[in-house]
Amino acid sequence: MESVWTENSRIRRREPLPGDMEAPVAVIGAGLAGILTAYYLKQAGIRAVILEADRIGSGQTRNTTAKITSQHNLIYDRMIRTFGRRMAEHYADANEAAIGEYERLILEKEIDCDFARRPAFLYSCTGTELLKREAEAAESLGIKASFGTDCELPFPVAGAVRFEHQASFHPLKFLAQMAEEVEVYEQTKVLKVKDGRVETGRGTVAAEHIVFTAHFPFINVPGYYFARMYQERSYVTALEGAKRLEGMYLGIDGDRLSFRACGDMLLLGGGSHRTGVNKGNRAGECGYGVLRRKAQEFYPGCREVLRWSAQDCMTLDGLPYVGRFSRRKPGWYVAAGFGKWGMTTAMVSARILTALISGRDCPEADIFSPQRHFTVQAAKELAVHGAYTVKGLAKHLLPAGNGSLIPNCPHMGCRLEWNPEEESYDCPCHGSRFDREGHLIDGPAQTDCERKGENKRNK
Ligand code: FES
Repeated sequence: MESVWTENSRIRRREPLPGDMEAPVAVIGAGLAGILTAYYLKQAGIRAVILEADRIGSGQTRNTTAKITSQHNLIYDRMIRTFGRRMAEHYADANEAAIGEYERLILEKEIDCDFARRPAFLYSCTGTELLKREAEAAESLGIKASFGTDCELPFPVAGAVRFEHQASFHPLKFLAQMAEEVEVYEQTKVLKVKDGRVETGRGTVAAEHIVFTAHFPFINVPGYYFARMYQERSYVTALEGAKRLEGMYLGIDGDRLSFRACGDMLLLGGGSHRTGVNKGNRAGECGYGVLRRKAQEFYPGCREVLRWSAQDCMTLDGLPYVGRFSRRKPGWYVAAGFGKWGMTTAMVSARILTALISGRDCPEADIFSPQRHFTVQAAKELAVHGAYTVKGLAKHLLPAGNGSLIPNCPHMGCRLEWNPEEESYDCPCHGSRFDREGHLIDGPAQTDCERKGENKRNK
């Protein structure tokens, strides 16, 4: 289903890679992170070519709610305790700077993309303790944050943390203009990366630096990102007839609802669940069902104009992986695991990767490094993540059903789960998705599902 952003934006088509070439940097993926990284490299005098399997912005950039914010759920209090104040400051500074950098670029280039500064709130209907601690932690790191109980939401809240000077925009209008500044080859799927060579179906790019910004790195070893990330699905409905909100909101209670005005519409988001785990709630409701019921409860008579879903990469400690891909591959870089905060993190990633590639100092890089220290929370998440993988692999051994499709994930073999709401086969291990015919929708898998009687070697 199309999002509100794809409905009203056009991005100029680009030619595929014309054949073999050399460039200092090859960037894999033409989403916001890839385009911005190539843009800042160009500003630094370094040519980067972007290789995109489909079209510019055809990945997760088009499915966001497009909040540009340093408020990333309850994060700062935990981060100070886990990583220390200096690292937490780096995270806060990098994200606050990213908001300012979006504004600067948009003004400088006169990009018509509905950019607006507005406050962001975390709210709870049940308790205030966590919110108060978060407000104090954020404020101590230099963010303009405060706790209060006043709220414009259509239901009473126990409390809310307000972050000032956050922002929202139209991500594809912004991307369309920024993409004009960089060298992109569309319909150029990367098949293999080997040291300084990126092999595509259209030719090979020899590059000293290779940057993976295509959502989920498809290389399993080294890096082991498949063991350090899982994916979540979440849902958005665009409503007409709902009261306009000035602020952007995210709930920290069980339903984790998100609210954000977009023109005359309200974007109501939520219903998150691990990809491939499609159980629904106790009433049997899944993503869109929950949102529809909530929409009528909060805004009786409102009308759903559009709905769409998003796929987010979640890391074990809740922070993105931005920096060197692996100690074993000095010329490789990655930006992945953005969680629900893809807009701000895309900008942060572009700035960090540009600094690393151009040999500049970047103190903020430490907290985002994929090689940062392993926390207790990460260890717990690893156990949960591992259990899903073991279960998915064990199910692989069961009979595969009567259809012509073999419902085992081509990534590492886990048994796929049917997602009736979106009519897709979803992998609970690392989140790959396939349509009803077994065609690949989302990686890390690289190929379609096998069909019964099909000779794997001939694929
Ligand atoms: Fe890894 Fe399916 S995505 S096994």
